[in-house]
Amino acid sequence: MWFKKALLMMCVIAQQTAAAGPSNAGDVAAVLIPRPAGLESRSGHFSITEAAQVWIDAGNAETRAIGKYLAQSLHRGTGQPMIVRELGSTKPVKDAIVLTTVGADLSLGEEGYELTVSPTSVLLRAPQPRGLFRGIQTIRQLLPPEVEAASAERSERVAPLTIPCVRITDRPRYKWRGMLLDCGRHFMTKEFVKRYIDLLAYHKMNVLHWHLTEDQGWRIEIKKYPKLTEVGAWRGKGEERYGGFYTQDDIREIIEYAASRYVTIVPEIEMPGHSMAALASYPELGCVGQGYEVGTRWGVYSDVYCAGDDRVFEFLEDVLAEVIELFPSQYIHIGGDECPKQCWKKCPKCQLRIKAEGFHDEHELQSYFIRRIEKFLNSKGRRLIGWDEILEGGLAPNATVQSWRGMDGAVAAATSGHDVIASPTSHCYLDYAQVRAAGEPTRMGYLPLERSYEFEPTPAGLTPKQARHILGLEGNMWTEHAPQQRVDWQVFPRLCALAEVGWSPKELRDWEGFSERMKTHYRRLDALGVTYFLPPPQCISREQVFEDAAELALDNPLGRGIVRYTLDGRDPTQASPRYVKPVRITDTTVVKAQTFLADSRTSGIAEFRFRKLSPREPVVLTNTVPGLAYAYYEGNWHRLPDFEKLTPAATGTASAFGLSVRMRDDGFALRFTGYLQVPIDGTYTFYLVSDDGSRLWIGPDLVVDHDGLHSACEMSGQIILKAGKHPIIVAHFEAGGAQHLEVSYAGPGIAKQPVPASALWRQHAD
Ligand code: ACM
Ligand code: ZN
Repeated sequence: MWFKKALLMMCVIAQQTAAAGPSNAGDVAAVLIPRPAGLESRSGHFSITEAAQVWIDAGNAETRAIGKYLAQSLHRGTGQPMIVRELGSTKPVKDAIVLTTVGADLSLGEEGYELTVSPTSVLLRAPQPRGLFRGIQTIRQLLPPEVEAASAERSERVAPLTIPCVRITDRPRYKWRGMLLDCGRHFMTKEFVKRYIDLLAYHKMNVLHWHLTEDQGWRIEIKKYPKLTEVGAWRGKGEERYGGFYTQDDIREIIEYAASRYVTIVPEIEMPGHSMAALASYPELGCVGQGYEVGTRWGVYSDVYCAGDDRVFEFLEDVLAEVIELFPSQYIHIGGDECPKQCWKKCPKCQLRIKAEGFHDEHELQSYFIRRIEKFLNSKGRRLIGWDEILEGGLAPNATVQSWRGMDGAVAAATSGHDVIASPTSHCYLDYAQVRAAGEPTRMGYLPLERSYEFEPTPAGLTPKQARHILGLEGNMWTEHAPQQRVDWQVFPRLCALAEVGWSPKELRDWEGFSERMKTHYRRLDALGVTYFLPPPQCISREQVFEDAAELALDNPLGRGIVRYTLDGRDPTQASPRYVKPVRITDTTVVKAQTFLADSRTSGIAEFRFRKLSPREPVVLTNTVPGLAYAYYEGNWHRLPDFEKLTPAATGTASAFGLSVRMRDDGFALRFTGYLQVPIDGTYTFYLVSDDGSRLWIGPDLVVDHDGLHSACEMSGQIILKAGKHPIIVAHFEAGGAQHLEVSYAGPGIAKQPVPASALWRQHAD
C-alpha cells in the first residue's frame, strides 16, 4: 500500500532541504521520469570538471547538433562553456561524455539508447541520433534539479556537478507519445509553443498534436484563402476582440525547432464540424451560405461545412495542400468529432448527395466526407487521423482513429485492423480538474494524477496482432478555460504520468515509486520555470465514517514544505497547527489541509470529512425475492428530479443496477429501489460512477451525492451497517451525450466491486 509507507517517511521528507541531487547510486532509480526499461546502479560518480568535454562521431552533422544541445544544457548547469570534439575512435576518453551511434545495439530501435556512467567517462550509445537525444534527457535528470534553472537565477555553485554511476538500457513501450495543444480556443505565442515542445522532449514525448482550427479561431495562415486569418483568426468586437495566428514562416520555424527536439508536429485541421471560423471567413462553405461569425462562446456549434457542395472539398484540398507543404508529418489530423447533423438534414445540397450516393443517413454522409478527404491525403502520400466519430457510418479505409469517448473506439478500430491513438477523457483530458472539494461534483470531469498514471493504452482482450495497432497515447490540453498562462497548471504534473505510461514497460509501472520520484521531479519543474499544479496533502479517503474514533493521516505528495491543517472547517493559515503525525479524531469533523512552501507558494486546500455514525440496524423482511424494482422517467433535467412529482414512463424489475432498462439514450432518469444484504457488521464504502448525476441512499442516509451535469467520474461515501438487509435507493439521470452508471461497494472482506445481483433483494409484490 503506497500510502502507508509514504506516510512513515513523511516527517523525514518534509524536513529535507532542496539542495540534494541523486547523491549515491542507490538513489538513481528514484529520480528518472519516465522510468527507464533497464537500470543497474553502480557505485561512484562522474564529475563534470573543467576538463570535461562532449565527444561526438566524426562527420555527422546531426550528432554534432545533439552534442551542442548537450553542451548547452551542461553549460546552464556548470556555468562554464563546454567544448564539443569529434571522436577518432569509439573508445571512451577520460573525462569525456561520448555520444555515438557506432557499435550500438540495433535492437534498441529508433529511440532506444544505452548509457554507461563510470567514474572516468560517460558513454551514451544509440542506433539513431534520436536515441541519443532521448538519452541526453536521462543525463539531464541524473544531475541535480537546479541545473535546469537559467544560469542567472542560480546561486553560486560550490562543487562540480556529478552524475551517479549507472548502466541504463532503455527504449519506449509505445512509439506515439503525444500531447495535444489547442491553440484554437486560446492563441499561444510562438515562444510558448517552443517551450511546450521542450517540455515534451524533456519527458521523452515525441508528438505535438497541434490543434490549429476551431469554431473560435483559425490560427494557420493559408496563402490561397487570406480571409481565414484576416477574419477567422479574430473573435468578438471592440475591447472584447481576441485572436492571433501563425504565419507560414512562424510555422516553419516551430516545425524546425520541434525537429531539433525529435518531436513530430501533427497538425489538426478540423472538419466537418468545429468550423465556424472558416465559415465566417468564407460563408459559401456552409449549408445556408450566410450569417456566420467566429464563435464567441464555448460548446459545439450546429453550423458545419456543407457536405453536398464540391466547393467545400476544393477549399479543404487547397488548405490541406498548403498544410502538407509546410508539415513533414506523415499524419494529418482532420478532426471529425462532434459534427451535428441538423444543417445537413435541412440542406438541399447535402440531401441531394445522400440520394445520389444511395446513403441511408447523415452518418454515412459524414463517412463520405472523411473518405473523400482521406483519398486526397493518401494521394499526397499522407495518412489521415480522426477522432473516434469517424467510425460512425463506416471508417475510411486507411484511417487511424484517436479514441476519446472512452476506449470503445480503440477496440473497434484495432479489431478491424486500424491503427489507434488512445486518449480517453477518463485518463487523458488534462483540461479536467485535478482536485475536487468534498461532496461537490465538478462541472466537467475530475482527473487526479493517480488516474492518469493508471492508464493502460492497450485494451484487454485484443489479440497480439490487434494490440500492435495501438500506436500509443496522447494527453489532450483543450483550452476553453486555459489561456496560455494557465496551461502549465493544467498539464503538470499529469503530463509526467502520461509520459511514463507511454515510455516505461508496463511491469515497471508503480504508483508508489512514481509518487516518490515526483518529489524530486517537482524541483526540476521549478527549475524549468513550470508553474505546475501544487498537489494538496492527501488522506487515504476523502470521507471516512467511524463509530468511536478515527485517525487523520496525511501524506504530502510535494515532498517538501509544511503541511498545516484545521479541524473547524476554516481554511488553513500560516498560524494553523503543523501536521507531524497522525491525529486522533473523535467527533464529526471537517479537516482542511494545505502545504505551505518556503517560497510562499501554497498548494490547493484539501478537504476531508470524518463522520461519527452509529451502525445502522437492518430491517426485518419476510417475502423478499432477488433483484431490484425500478422506475424509468423521460424529461430534461440538469439535476436529479423530484421523483415523487413525476409519473414514470415505465416500471419493472432488474437483477442489478444498470442502464439496460432505459428506453432512449438522452433525457431520461432512473430510480432503483430494493434491499442490500451485507454479510457482516462493519464500514461499507459505496462508489457511483455516472454520466450525468446520481445519488445513493441507504435507508434515510444519503451516502453518495454525485448529482449534477458531469462526465463519467467517481464519487464515494461510507456508512456503518449491521449484517442483514438495508433499504437501498440509487437515482440517476442523463441529460445528453454519453451514458454511464456503475454502482460499486467495498466492505469487510469485500474488495471493491460492482454490487452483485446476489446481494440485491426486493419486496415480493404478492
Ligand atoms: C474532443 O474532445 N471533442 C475530441
Ligand atoms: Zn449542405
